[in-house]
Amino acid sequence: MAVTPATKLDARRLRADFPVFDELVNGKPVAFLDSAASTQKPRQVLDAMREFYEHSYANVHRGVYTLAERATAGYEGAREKVRAYVNAPSSREVIFTRGATEALNLVAYAWGLDNLGPGDVVVITELEHHSNFVPWQFIAKKTGAEFAHIPIDDLGELQLDALDEIATRGNVKVVANNLVSNTLGTVNPVEKLATWAHEQGAIMVVDAAQAAPHRKIDVQALGCDFLAFSSHKLCGPSGVGALWGRRELLEEMQPFNFGGEMIRSVALDRTSWNELPYKFEAGTPAIAEAYGFGVAIDYVSEIGLDAIEAHEHELVVQAMDALAEIPGLRIFGPPAERRTGIVSFELENVHPHDVAQILDWEGVAVRAGHHCTQPLMTRLGVAATTRASFYLYSLPEEVDRLVAGLLKVRKTFA
Ligand code: ALA
Repeated sequence: MAVTPATKLDARRLRADFPVFDELVNGKPVAFLDSAASTQKPRQVLDAMREFYEHSYANVHRGVYTLAERATAGYEGAREKVRAYVNAPSSREVIFTRGATEALNLVAYAWGLDNLGPGDVVVITELEHHSNFVPWQFIAKKTGAEFAHIPIDDLGELQLDALDEIATRGNVKVVANNLVSNTLGTVNPVEKLATWAHEQGAIMVVDAAQAAPHRKIDVQALGCDFLAFSSHKLCGPSGVGALWGRRELLEEMQPFNFGGEMIRSVALDRTSWNELPYKFEAGTPAIAEAYGFGVAIDYVSEIGLDAIEAHEHELVVQAMDALAEIPGLRIFGPPAERRTGIVSFELENVHPHDVAQILDWEGVAVRAGHHCTQPLMTRLGVAATTRASFYLYSLPEEVDRLVAGLLKVRKTFA
């Protein structure tokens, strides 16, 4: 990816927006290299949420009084921001959920239970996060559908030549794939998969949790049917996320949760559902969090997704070049050109938890573990990896600190 001055961001200036960067960890400024797990929050989001609670808070959709109207306007305004962010045709197709995981469970349960059965095939990939793997595995078992996976090659890229064989196994009804792998950063060919899925008469479900905060998303250009992402990986609060779904599909689906605003009328013998999107929003939603999600969308949009993507690309190139020089270190996944700002690696003879622990002593925060991708770990032949991941506030010197920390780890375990 080419970095032009027009797409360059100033990470050092942006860091001033994030109070956490004033923190010292083990006496050192924190090098937060775990943004794929969750991102830090800028003052703009924190202040807006506080202000919302102080001046505009009440339950939504229920009151006719001023505060309730303000709260509802804030909540529905955020829905419109989500819609625009992913270029969805209508905000009625945007459902607030607790996060990407709940959004994917919603599709698996509400669409899968009524549309799958023996003779059908659910297709996931070896790269999936458990959130887009386990719900489908569970629903496939429950309905008698076959559960098939698209394998990856040694670089962690999908082997699309497996699709022909998969198509012979039955009626392919669902293809579920992450746009970006949370463990390897691989950018997956979702448009191609969506075209193939539709040729089979299947729906395409996209987990965009690791993509939406880092690159432009257009659900219409992707050609998918459902797309899920979270607020907390995008500088917003935790506890809220969004599901976009094609209206015809959402209209046909039964609710996933019951109670509260998803009801139109209830009698002793029958209940009817509210219209979209409320049909899928049972109970009091995460009101201020949804509002904060909208503010976070404004924040990253103002910086620009192209600039964020370009910045992370520079960091991942720097990191991969430097890590490749460390003896005994093996990087997993594709070249920098085909990944986002995520690098997973192993250091010979050192458990990833020990790596992460020693890095923490140096003030460097990385994630160690299976990253909720155990089938991928099995394919890579490891139990766990160490993962560094970048965002708009990450600095080149933090990559240097990661590398220096890893050299210390090597020395310690030599
Ligand atoms: N899914 C998040 C990660 O990859 C938590 O770390």
